[in-house]
Amino acid sequence: MEENVVKHAFEVTRAERNQSFGHQSLVLWFTGLSGSGKSTIANALEVFLVAKGYHAYILDGDNVRKGLNSNLSFSPEDRTENIRRIGEVANLMFDAGLIVLSAFVSPYKKDRAKIAEIVGEENFIEVFVNTPIEECERRDVKGLYAKARQGEILNFTGISAPYEAPVNALIEIDTTQQTIENCVEIIFSAIENKLKLNNE
Ligand code: ADX
Repeated sequence: MEENVVKHAFEVTRAERNQSFGHQSLVLWFTGLSGSGKSTIANALEVFLVAKGYHAYILDGDNVRKGLNSNLSFSPEDRTENIRRIGEVANLMFDAGLIVLSAFVSPYKKDRAKIAEIVGEENFIEVFVNTPIEECERRDVKGLYAKARQGEILNFTGISAPYEAPVNALIEIDTTQQTIENCVEIIFSAIENKLKLNNE
């Protein structure tokens, strides 16, 4: 079907949208185990950014899987499709001028690399929320680790499904060593310059 679809070039550019918002757009990609703190950090960062006048938006696994991706399971193929769709949505939001805070387990390196390719390496910031599995399991905020251990949930990342950790993420955080405020500071200082308009 795709062969009969021709891309239309619209007139308003991302650069113009960035000018009107007063900052560059960016995709921050939080990856890490379930319960590692991805959504909590993304939330605190969004609050911080919005208070400073930036335009940001969170895409989060638990929420997106209740809507756009409600037809996807946690099989390897469906996780790849989950991340592919989110990557495309993140790219649209990036083009719309937003700072996209994307929080998904995204366990496969190749899937994360694909997003970087789509949005452009220079616009993609991988944030590895490297909380040890023992700590994620101890927190077990949603009770899912207990269920996974009892075999009630299959293919659970870190227990019965793989997690391919990033080797050189631009930002790496261990939430057992940092407060949420520190995490926000670390991330903001890493992206502050990237958010400046080219003419600033
Ligand atoms: S991903 O692997 O496809 O990137 P995603 O981030 O969308 O995962 O969803 C992960 C969330 O779904 C977890 O935080 C957890 O709450 C829930 N979940 C339910 N089943 C699983 C599972 N088998 N593996 C990992 N997370 C699961």
